[in-house]
Amino acid sequence: MLKKDIKEVLFTEEELKKRIEEMAARISEDYEGQELLVIGVLKGANMFLSDLIRKIDLPMEVDFIAASSYGNATKSSGVVRILKDLDYPIQDRHVLLIEDLIDTGLTLHYLAENLKSRTPASFRICTLLDKPERRKIDIEVSYIGFNIPDEFIVGYGIDYSQKYRNLPYIATLKPEVYA
Ligand code: PRP
Repeated sequence: MLKKDIKEVLFTEEELKKRIEEMAARISEDYEGQELLVIGVLKGANMFLSDLIRKIDLPMEVDFIAASSYGNATKSSGVVRILKDLDYPIQDRHVLLIEDLIDTGLTLHYLAENLKSRTPASFRICTLLDKPERRKIDIEVSYIGFNIPDEFIVGYGIDYSQKYRNLPYIATLKPEVYA
């Protein structure tokens, strides 16, 4: 049973769905008349991206990039590696980068600088969750689902030691699980 490790549910399936619909409506409005290139940051953003794009009413293409700064550790090492690059060029495209969580900002800063150097027509960041008090480097984020406190969370794509990604909600873990 996965549930035995859960301390508290922070966002239920219904709460996530409602907020994601609001975000998708904003994005659809902001980019009206344009074609999007949505880029998901694997693996964590996978579930958020697939729910979000089904609610965006715009023509789009989807690509993925995989980066890791954590490995199996719970703290960012600050060293970002691209594990899988995009399949296609992004020059002159309207790029919307999708993340599950911004913590120190180191991963996203690295990815944003890397992608912007490929000269897209525009570049914006969308994240489901943000932990602003943990930020080590400034980044401009256009769409934020929820600000959350500095707590260790799992579910809806987000892992602890590669597990719990399949939980349909976002929750905190009991301390004994990661102690
Ligand atoms: C998580 C998350 C972000 C990053 C945020 O990814 O998806 O990419 O950490 O942390 P930061 O703001 O401190 O850089 P992780 O490296 O755990 O990989 P995953 O998405 O495959 O789980």
